[in-house]
Amino acid sequence: TGLWAVVPAAGQGTRFGAELPKQYLKLNGKAVIEHSLDALLGCCEIRGVAVALKADDPIFAELACATNPIVRRITGGAERAESVELALASLSEAQDGDWILVHDAARPCLSQRDIQMLLAKGRAHPVGALLAAPVVDTMKRATDQTEVAETVDRQVLWRALTPQLFRYGALRDALKYCREQGLPVTDEASAMEHCGLQPLLVQGSHRNIKITYPDDLLIAEVFLAGANN
Ligand code: C5P
Repeated sequence: TGLWAVVPAAGQGTRFGAELPKQYLKLNGKAVIEHSLDALLGCCEIRGVAVALKADDPIFAELACATNPIVRRITGGAERAESVELALASLSEAQDGDWILVHDAARPCLSQRDIQMLLAKGRAHPVGALLAAPVVDTMKRATDQTEVAETVDRQVLWRALTPQLFRYGALRDALKYCREQGLPVTDEASAMEHCGLQPLLVQGSHRNIKITYPDDLLIAEVFLAGANN
């Protein structure tokens, strides 16, 4: 079975507040998305990577990774799930039983160790898997926006990271089903869950952060400089 990758990178990055979408900000001299893609490209098994971009994206084509022969560009959609669906459709050589890694452009601190662990554990699971990290804070459920209803048992709570690994056909069908039913999909695992499936949680590094706010770039710089990444 083959292994392919999808990188959703068609977001506006509105929470970040910069002119440039966050995936194009520089991190140790390289764009955020280049770090994210290079991590995937370090995995030689991957046959092709579809990168979903905004329709008018003027920047990606100029990056060094855009010339990699296994990287292909497609135009994404209004929602992340739609970008992933369009990217999957562009991988026309992929077979239903092949595996797909979906990795956010905005997660530049992905280690080879975490990719390999996800592949090993996820491909041994009937549904597939996602990298995840245990929640460290005490978690509260709110009654409304202002008051606490209750404390939620954090022993059973995880933060969903990327990459996430699923079979090509199953993921394509799950995303289509959720779109048609109007079900919320913020990661690939949630699409599988809506189909009654239970993906495996693979504990990944807490360093695999999503660049959301300007401070996150400073933290990512420190993580990327660390020897064990
Ligand atoms: O907005 P958020 O941080 O959840 O975005 C996660 C990833 O999904 C980012 O890499 C972003 O570029 C991508 N995305 C996309 N298409 C959209 C919205 C987000 O590819 N319409």
